[in-house]
Amino acid sequence: MEENVLHLELILTMECNANCDYCYQNGAEKVPDMDEEFIDKLYEKIKSEEYYNKFVIALFGGEPTLAEDKILYLLEKLENLKDSKVFRFTMPTNAIDTDAVLRIKKAINKRGWEVSFTLSNKEDLTLSNIPDEILIESSYSFIFNSSNYTSITEDLIDTLKNSKLGGGIVIKPDVYSDLSSIPASDVSNILKLVADKKAFFNVNLTNPDATACVMDDLERVTVFSTGEFAMCTRMTMGCYEDGYIGHIDTTTFQEAVANRIELASQISETGMCLCKTQAAIESANYVDEIIQATDGIYDGLVVAKD
Ligand SMILES: C[S@@+](CC[C@H](N)C(=O)[O-])C[C@H]1O[C@@H](n2cnc3c(N)ncnc32)[C@H](O)[C@@H]1O
Ligand code: SF4
Repeated sequence: MEENVLHLELILTMECNANCDYCYQNGAEKVPDMDEEFIDKLYEKIKSEEYYNKFVIALFGGEPTLAEDKILYLLEKLENLKDSKVFRFTMPTNAIDTDAVLRIKKAINKRGWEVSFTLSNKEDLTLSNIPDEILIESSYSFIFNSSNYTSITEDLIDTLKNSKLGGGIVIKPDVYSDLSSIPASDVSNILKLVADKKAFFNVNLTNPDATACVMDDLERVTVFSTGEFAMCTRMTMGCYEDGYIGHIDTTTFQEAVANRIELASQISETGMCLCKTQAAIESANYVDEIIQATDGIYDGLVVAKD
């Protein structure tokens, strides 16, 4: 049977037990946690969906482990749909509560589904504290800005490479940073260092989240507990004030995706979103310098240009 895949990003809670200085959710307007009643509604929506038969569900926050009970409830419900729909899960987590991450993983795996995690450079995150069972299912994002980019050293990269991380490693800019405050030569040195180390690194100098949400996976719907469907996780951060693409009570997933595609095409000629980093990168006008310095060295370099 043909697979029609929908990426569903669930903002389960906006609460968090960490306080990462780069977090784009700092100061964001908070929507309430998803409760069981809402999850019942979402379940019915997925159940009655006629076009999409595969759902890649991002268990998103805030910190999703704080919504563990809701995640377990959702999984229990979705199990009823095992014969008609395919599920896969992703979860970015600060991994402070590794036990909760493991419990969630087990609850997913025992139903025959897969989950992958994204870890990132939290202040206290030490990979050696994370069980291998989690690491092998994890990718790692290093979010860099002008305050922390000097920590991207040979040692750091070796540590990441020598760890049990099973997924890729992405070096990506803090979406709210103005990269132009980092000398272009320093960024190209980082890229050269990464290139020297070869293999599985993926360096993305565009705003990866923004381009992913608008361009890469157009069949993606972010769901808030208010019932709103949004084109982007950062809806509450004021990036897209008019970026709602539907409501759980009135819009089918297919309609929401069609609205998203339409909205993405209106946002700009390139389809890039208008998020702050994008603006910062474009206005910084130094990406060319970086490209010149790294040309031919690193094929995976993707840059934002207007
Ligand atoms: C907002 S967090 C929510 C999930 C979880 N609390 C976590 O940190 O993984 C989702 C992802 O966004 C990343 N992130 C947070 N602030 C960012 C920023 N300013 N720029 C780029 N990525 C950011 C996090 O590192 C994480 O991978
Ligand atoms: S753990 Fe995630 S949600 Fe919490 S402050 Fe850090 S980046 Fe933000």
